[in-house]
Amino acid sequence: MEKKITNTEKETQGKNCCGPECCSGKNEVQSPKAYQEKSAEELKNIIKEKYGAIAEQTSSCCGSGKIVDYYIMKDKYDNLPGYVAEADLNLGCGLPTEFAGIKKGDTVVDLGSGAGNDVFVARAITGEEGRVIGIDMTEEMIEKAKRNNSKLGFANVEFRLGEIEDIPLADNAADVVVSNCVLNLVPDKKKAFSEIYRILKPGAHFCVSDIVIQGEMNSELKRSAEMYAGCVAGAIQQDEYLQIIEKTGFKKIEIKKRKKIILPDELLKQYLNENGLKEYKENLKGIFSITVVGYKS
Ligand SMILES: C[S@@+](CC[C@H](N)C(=O)[O-])C[C@H]1O[C@@H](n2cnc3c(N)ncnc32)[C@H](O)[C@@H]1O
Repeated sequence: MEKKITNTEKETQGKNCCGPECCSGKNEVQSPKAYQEKSAEELKNIIKEKYGAIAEQTSSCCGSGKIVDYYIMKDKYDNLPGYVAEADLNLGCGLPTEFAGIKKGDTVVDLGSGAGNDVFVARAITGEEGRVIGIDMTEEMIEKAKRNNSKLGFANVEFRLGEIEDIPLADNAADVVVSNCVLNLVPDKKKAFSEIYRILKPGAHFCVSDIVIQGEMNSELKRSAEMYAGCVAGAIQQDEYLQIIEKTGFKKIEIKKRKKIILPDELLKQYLNENGLKEYKENLKGIFSITVVGYKS
């Protein structure tokens, strides 16, 4: 559900954990240009450093010392069966498990699993008969997720260090792949979706929540949006995103949920003329969180 930004909430702007001010000193604001100019390896090292620092925060994931209770991209998790507060670092931008059609006994893989938030929600659905595997390239995140799991004692939950572009799993291993606010960070999205295709069993499906862009947004606005909400610099156009999925070979591709990421007028007015602002408000352009499914044929 979209929320209006209150004054108190405005004060917290830029402190979203996807944003640059988290764990200050360890983050570098990624402009869209930087995403194009930096090599994939350089970008991944920056991402690992940022999420490593977030994983090691204790009170709140943000370095300011304030507990920020409003996260612009996040959907509400805490009423879900299996929810584990320590695993929720406020890094998501949707609820992929809501539309993932996970069944008892399924093998579920969560890509960019962070501290295990969606893994534990998925485990509540698969039950003891299933298996849930979280994959993340940031060592500190994997360590935190493992610590969370050892407190819970789930024998059928596993966290593996690895990259989405080269998932450490065999072909045809998963019934369902989920991912929450991660693929926008992956420089090679075609490779990411081809790896998802490879690890899914024939006829199996993925359900991914992610950030996409709709319509032209100038790079300055994109950069400001990255500072405000994060997870925007590496986000691509929604059409391109869906085309990549289609070209990978997925069928029955469907956006199950689409949510506008609200940016304050003060910020928009700096970069958009009247017409641009109107288009933004009419949802012809903007930043969206989408939850999309696709089936391996
Ligand atoms: C925005 S956080 C989301 C974490 C988790 N999905 C959640 O909702 O709490 C992104 C996570 O993806 C991981 N990540 C980013 N790029 C990755 C890649 N190419 N391969 C594996 N993990 C990646 C980061 O280390 C980080 O833990």
